[in-house]
Amino acid sequence: MKAHQIILKSRPEGMPTSDNFDLTPVKLPSLQDNEVLVKNLWMSVDPYMRGRMIDRKSYIAPFQIGEALEGGAIGEIIESKNSALPVGTKVSHMLGWRSHFVSSAEGLTALPVTPIDDSHFLGVMGMPGMTAWVGLNRIAKLKEGETLFVSAASGAVGSIVCQLGKMMGAKVVGSVGSDEKAETLTALGVDAVINYKTCGDLNQALADAAPEGIDVYFENVGGEHLFAALNNMKDYGRIAVCGMIAQYNDTTPTPGPSNLAQIIMKKLRVEGFIVFDHWAHYGDFAKEMSQYLAAGKIKAEQTVFEGLEKAPEAFIGLFEGKNKGKMVVKLS
Ligand SMILES: NC(=O)c1ccc[n+]([C@@H]2O[C@H](COP(=O)([O-])OP(=O)(O)OC[C@H]3O[C@@H](n4cnc5c(N)ncnc54)[C@H](OP(=O)(O)O)[C@@H]3O)[C@@H](O)[C@H]2O)c1
Repeated sequence: MKAHQIILKSRPEGMPTSDNFDLTPVKLPSLQDNEVLVKNLWMSVDPYMRGRMIDRKSYIAPFQIGEALEGGAIGEIIESKNSALPVGTKVSHMLGWRSHFVSSAEGLTALPVTPIDDSHFLGVMGMPGMTAWVGLNRIAKLKEGETLFVSAASGAVGSIVCQLGKMMGAKVVGSVGSDEKAETLTALGVDAVINYKTCGDLNQALADAAPEGIDVYFENVGGEHLFAALNNMKDYGRIAVCGMIAQYNDTTPTPGPSNLAQIIMKKLRVEGFIVFDHWAHYGDFAKEMSQYLAAGKIKAEQTVFEGLEKAPEAFIGLFEGKNKGKMVVKLS
């Protein structure tokens, strides 16, 4: 059997390019007792993987040059010497970026039997959906009647934040990088959508979209978006700092927004979070989200690239705004 993996060939400087990755064949060992052979069906590409390409200390270890990349994936067991994981079992795990692998079964979680598509366990039912839920419920504690501003609003996390925000009774303002994305969000019931690439002054566009001021900012982007949000926050507003994708490819440290003093003057609460610290609540989230999906209350869009060899292109596409909803790769 031909197995392949994608390795980190070199560390990106600035925007990653296809030259930073290499598709290489891999020879798999034969199965020992209790081991299984997994064939990957879907893999996730996520912005946080860019941080792991930098050789630095962080909440998660850096990728090593010459070694296969890792990330969320869904696979199927095609050979098994483990009675708890028979052939045909679908599993989620963190060994994406490869076609097959042999596993001791550690780190494999069998997917629940549900009508939900397998790939959604990388998106709305997985880490990005959980991030949206944690940020709104556990960090910002969004309340009915409040105004919520969401950046990268049509992405994997942002699109779920917007829809949960509407269900929680908020007025939702989103920011996106294209008119097509704006139309999709408007169709989902988002109250106002700003195209940050064409609006001119983002600060003013936000003031026009939310003249009453913002209670909660769900921060996915950083830079200009944070500047505009700080200027438009209400007193005692809350900022859930989820990500700052605009800065992930910076080659020199980005100067902070010049208006951080707004945090003092408006008595804001700014709290960063990493979804994995909240994983003990996954069961509560999954129960709620699966009900919303079954009832058609949440729409989970995906952008799909096909073939393991397309994974670098899909990953780079995250920084070029090529996805609506969750970016995933379908392995052939
Ligand atoms: N804290 C956590 O535990 C956690 C967990 C998951 C994700 N995150 C963070 O959440 C954010 C969203 O992640 P995601 O997985 O949902 O990705 P995503 O939104 O599905 O994809 C990235 C999107 O970001 C936008 N973008 C890219 N570069 C940009 C720039 N320079 N300025 C403004 N927008 C830009 C693009 O949309 P446009 O076309 O609209 O520009 C792109 O489609 C990221 O910052 C990520 O790191 C954090």
